[in-house]
Amino acid sequence: MAEAKGKEKKEEVVDTIWSRRDFFSLAGWASFMAALGLSSLYFARLLFPRVLFEPSPIFKAGYPSDYTVGAVSTKYIQDQRVWIVRDEEGIYVIYGLCTHLGCTPRWLNTESKYKCPCHGSGFTKEGMHFEGPAPRPLERLKISLAPDGQIIVDKSKKFLWEKGQWGQPGSKLLV
Ligand code: FES
Repeated sequence: MAEAKGKEKKEEVVDTIWSRRDFFSLAGWASFMAALGLSSLYFARLLFPRVLFEPSPIFKAGYPSDYTVGAVSTKYIQDQRVWIVRDEEGIYVIYGLCTHLGCTPRWLNTESKYKCPCHGSGFTKEGMHFEGPAPRPLERLKISLAPDGQIIVDKSKKFLWEKGQWGQPGSKLLV
């Protein structure tokens, strides 16, 4: 009887294709290969960093003669978010960003002011705040002249009235 049972057991073992050891060994290798594959993918992803290429803050804005004395040019407000203003002395650039919460004001020619549509702040043609919640004037941007005679605006360099920077070199182009 005992002999018959032993024979049965042996047959069972022989009939199975995969032993338990084979199964765990294979599972182990599979996990290892999966981990290796994933880490290779991750490494390959590192070779292509997610860089955000921003447009240059510097642009050319035509010739000084393109601007009329006493006028605010809205030519670059859509693309560059700046107004270019010419007075008797020269040309300066105002950044179209409300100093309250950052909306873009509109130039109202008939009222001769920049008016913010968000909370009603108003700024004079020169950029001084005079109504609404804006705590300070609009910012001015660096302006210079290229060798070819065109105006260059650099939006990365700002001039703040409250820091006494509106009179600094680069804040106005004397023409
Ligand atoms: S964002 Fe311009 S007034 Fe508030």
